[in-house]
Amino acid sequence: HESITMIKYIDKLQFGNYEIDTWYFSPFPGEYGKARTLYVCEYCLKYMRLRKSYSYHQYECKRRHPPGNEIYRKGNISIFEVNGKEEPLYCQLLCLMAKLFLDHKVLYFDMNPFLFYVLCEIDKEGSHIVGYFSKEKMQENNNVACILVLPPHQRKGFGKLLIAFSYELSRKEGVIGSPEKPLSDLGRLSYRSYWAYSLLELMKVRCSPEQTTIKELSEMSGITQDDIIYTLQSMKMIKYWKGQNVICVTSKMINDHLQLPQFKQPKLTIDLDCLDWKPQN
Ligand code: COA
Ligand code: NA
Repeated sequence: HESITMIKYIDKLQFGNYEIDTWYFSPFPGEYGKARTLYVCEYCLKYMRLRKSYSYHQYECKRRHPPGNEIYRKGNISIFEVNGKEEPLYCQLLCLMAKLFLDHKVLYFDMNPFLFYVLCEIDKEGSHIVGYFSKEKMQENNNVACILVLPPHQRKGFGKLLIAFSYELSRKEGVIGSPEKPLSDLGRLSYRSYWAYSLLELMKVRCSPEQTTIKELSEMSGITQDDIIYTLQSMKMIKYWKGQNVICVTSKMINDHLQLPQFKQPKLTIDLDCLDWKPQN
């Protein structure tokens, strides 16, 4: 596995009302890849090199939301499911833009195997992309391939909202899921925070948390046993006993953990009544 450092020419992304500093190289073709500022239409995701083309396009573009089906809407939050097979161009453009903020992901150009879940904030102008995750259709145990929240929207709870959503979809499919590895540092922090809080809450409502098994927690949460073990290890709530991992925790330990600032209630949660989705077949 060869590692090539690609020079990042694109410093800034103009996207909707945001001018965003980019983080990593993304393979925009030819001259576009050499622009200092790249302009991207927030609705159709077309990329441009010149501010005047962008202004003209904003005036011309009729699109106001992602393609595909709106499968979730609560208040001003909406999630669209976009099939890579039906909207290959849109999905490719989304991946190209996302790569500006993702370090180690390989960019695939075949979009057929992927579904995209695009989270938007709606106002009277249209549906503004906040973030998304992709999911490989044939890899049901990987419930997320790639996840991104655009920098201006980070640390507001959208990442954990998308993570929660990915587990809800898996739950409807009747599978236990996990994100594709390796995770980035930010990905790991967000997952760990989601897993820890979900598991603490589940253990709290058990009358005797010390009798909860990893298998039960996995069935209740939809989180894999490996991810549970990793999370409980980081909270020192697991012991290796006679060749097995066993939960080793008291109600007091759980309550003490829930008092800590890093284990706070998520800012945003999924309301299942607002999800209109059935697994295929
Ligand atoms: N520093 C420390 N902790 C952080 C952090 C940061 N910069 N960003 C996230 N976290 C941790 C916190 O525990 C946070 O919860 P809190 O704000 O309640 O304390 C939790 O992760 C998730 O925060 P949330 O606001 O729900 O996530 P987000 O909207 O910022 O999105 C990512 C998280 C990972 C999607 C976002 O950081 C991102 O898009 N990163 C770039 C792309 C990437 O690395 N994706 C993952 C590939 S595997
Ligand atoms: Na947290």
